[in-house]
Amino acid sequence: MLELEKVSWQVEETETEILRSIDLTLAAQKIYAITGPNGGGKSSLAKMIMGVYTPTSGRILLDGQDITQLSISERARQGIGYAFQNPPRFKGIKVEELLKLAAANNPEKVNIYDLLYDVGLCAQDYLERDVDASLSGGEMKRIEIATVLARNLRVAVFDEPEAGIDLWSFQKLAETFTSIHQKYDTTIVIISHQERILELADEIILMVNGKISLQSTKDKILAGILHNEACLCSERCEKGVGQNA
Ligand SMILES: Nc1ncnc2c1ncn2[C@@H]1O[C@H](COP(=O)(O)OP(=O)(O)OP(=O)(O)O)[C@@H](O)[C@H]1O
Ligand SMILES: [Mg+2]
Repeated sequence: MLELEKVSWQVEETETEILRSIDLTLAAQKIYAITGPNGGGKSSLAKMIMGVYTPTSGRILLDGQDITQLSISERARQGIGYAFQNPPRFKGIKVEELLKLAAANNPEKVNIYDLLYDVGLCAQDYLERDVDASLSGGEMKRIEIATVLARNLRVAVFDEPEAGIDLWSFQKLAETFTSIHQKYDTTIVIISHQERILELADEIILMVNGKISLQSTKDKILAGILHNEACLCSERCEKGVGQNA
């Protein structure tokens, strides 16, 4: 279980507050989807969980243990994994090596051929490829998702996994999330704007303006969005700035 207690984060140089007093409990074996308008703070929250950012105030607990001050690599060792919205490229490493490294600490035998298949890539075409700029955006995104799937994680965060993934593979990706959910005790957090992904979730978290504006079951939130009850831009609207989500 991952708990965020009144977590706030502001940019040091400008003192702009990006995350505002977030209280959030994420249980094991559940899929959470975080959605909301651009700039709402979703990726910042994910980076906070991963340890890329450290809270200005508040605490983060993993199964009761305070991990607030732990670095990215220490959190990775504790079983927290993150697939970036824009995955980084690595020169001088092949897809096969990257996946084997990712699977190294997984006590279950991971078949990297199956793993690539799960993200819609044919192993014989990709294992020998370099993880560099020669891979297309969608290919890179899939490979990064595969590296997160290769690890037996306590918390796995995927930032817009659907971005750049074609519609043909999208269904397969959704099935993959469901199957890791059934196989491991992992808490899965998926940041997404896609209804198909939101439908996979046990709970949906709506982030607006650095705060959680709603957290509920998918049925309630999706019904709210469809009936326009859950206005994603209420604060901005009130200020008259106006921005459609
Ligand atoms: N390191 C940073 N320095 C300054 N501002 C930042 C930094 N990181 C995030 N922000 C700002 O914080 C706000 C939230 O950004 P974030 O990337 O978390 O949004 P998001 O909800 O993921 O948006 P999107 O749906 O577009 O991916 C944005 O206004 C962004 O410009
Ligand atoms: Mg984002």
